[in-house]
Amino acid sequence: MLSYSDEKKPKAIDLSHHYADAVKDLKNTFPANPFRGKPGIVDLDAGIPATAYFPIESVTVEHLNQDAYPLSPTDVVPTNSGLFSWITSIFSGRSASTKSFTIPRYLEDPSATEGAKFELKSALTYSPNAGLAPLKKWIHDWSGHANKPALYCGLDTLITTGATDGWTRVVRAFLNPGEGFLADDYNALTQAGAFARPVSIPTDVHGIKPAELEHLLATWEENDHGFPRPRLLYTQGGINNPTGQILTTERKKAIYDIAVRYDIIIAPTQYLPPSNEKERVKATEAAKKKTDEEWLDSVTPSFLSFDYQGRVIRIDTFSKTIGPGVRLGYYTTSPSLRRILDILGSVSNSAPSGLTQAIVGQLLYTFQRDGFTRWIRGLGAQYELRRNWSLDVLFHNLHIEKSQTSSSFIANRKGGKDNEKLLSKSLFSFGWFAIHLQNHPSFPSLSASTSAAAAKTLLADKLWNNLGEAGVLFRLGELFAVPTPEERAHNGEQVIYLRASHSSSTREELERAFKIFADVVVKFFDH
Ligand SMILES: Cc1ncc(COP(=O)(O)O)c(C=O)c1O
Repeated sequence: MLSYSDEKKPKAIDLSHHYADAVKDLKNTFPANPFRGKPGIVDLDAGIPATAYFPIESVTVEHLNQDAYPLSPTDVVPTNSGLFSWITSIFSGRSASTKSFTIPRYLEDPSATEGAKFELKSALTYSPNAGLAPLKKWIHDWSGHANKPALYCGLDTLITTGATDGWTRVVRAFLNPGEGFLADDYNALTQAGAFARPVSIPTDVHGIKPAELEHLLATWEENDHGFPRPRLLYTQGGINNPTGQILTTERKKAIYDIAVRYDIIIAPTQYLPPSNEKERVKATEAAKKKTDEEWLDSVTPSFLSFDYQGRVIRIDTFSKTIGPGVRLGYYTTSPSLRRILDILGSVSNSAPSGLTQAIVGQLLYTFQRDGFTRWIRGLGAQYELRRNWSLDVLFHNLHIEKSQTSSSFIANRKGGKDNEKLLSKSLFSFGWFAIHLQNHPSFPSLSASTSAAAAKTLLADKLWNNLGEAGVLFRLGELFAVPTPEERAHNGEQVIYLRASHSSSTREELERAFKIFADVVVKFFDH
């Protein structure tokens, strides 16, 4: 176990000059109370209902096993070796390959190291902002192990109601009205523009380009932009939504060094399970043979593992590992940055639901660290399989050339002319397709009669509608773009981006959808 509190390590630097004016003087409404919990004390302080008034007596949770999903799956249902598959179990009425635990009203022995860790007594009352103690401990141990943040003393975690809450709190903590933050040119949180303005950093297949980031900061003129040089960078530490890119280790290091030079706080969201940049196209057989511990050690390092000053606020969520409805996530950051985020939480949504914390917490204790790692690996294998089913349809219906230089492919119609590329895609997790307008017959004339930006928007809407009418719904990449259509046209962007999520449809639906996609795109280029 890595130690967070090794006094020999340097302390995190003071970054309080970054606090937004509105939060600078915020104090914790309820400072630590030395008398709370003192043996024999009669607590008339808090206005909370007595435990006996909670109508829920116990909660029993039936859950899948940590290894329900094989590492080399052939289908998308749990197929535990030696057990009937989940679906078979449901149809046949035989008991499913699940286990269960119960959260009682009162724990018989709260200090017991085995078995139940949570009780409704605490789950149904107000939670501490930091989260229920056993969950905080589990998350603290997990984050330390998974992210290897050990370069300064005192690194800490704080529970949130998910990554959206996590990020919004960061914006409120550090940005004054009208200020901007740096972000990938295509990202899933542009809506945070409601509170602050995203400033686009160009990316390529490996994520943010460090040289472009440095240039932007070095040449920043407040008068030109209308607001001071950004002090906060939002990116995704793992697989990017929507582009599927994974920021490489080298780039993370380079970006961290720039953040030190320009005094920037980095807030990476990790909303998908950790993954390995080298295995993003296909997990090799050797990778599948790794133990869970070895696998966790091999995932692409977090920004936290380079952070020697305490300027990274990592934002994790359980939305894609347990379920979005649990509304549970956590920060990992320095004690002082954690403190301001904690205070902001206490004046907004308080802590996440105690019931959720107890259910997810007990599940995590049941899985334990290796089991949770195994669960994540199983999920990764499922998404890889779904992606491959989708891509197989394109490989079957289009002429595909794999790129020699990157993990991507270019597609042309079958029997089409050389170089007449219609679409391209990187072979990552998300279906993020670029439709090449330079080969569209109407693009030049439409651009001449309107503008390149307007022509692109018009054609993008047409393609999206054609797809919808043919029976498949994609999301237009425009919705994730930070630069305006005019800025993108000015930068020479001549592609329509489309995102397809293959996370929940059946195999039959995915195959139908991608056959429609291939047909509609080919027809789109005919007129
Ligand atoms: C990049 C990114 N961040 C955050 C979220 C939402 O996370 P949460 O459910 O924890 O609010 C998503 C959802 O897909 C996402 O793609």
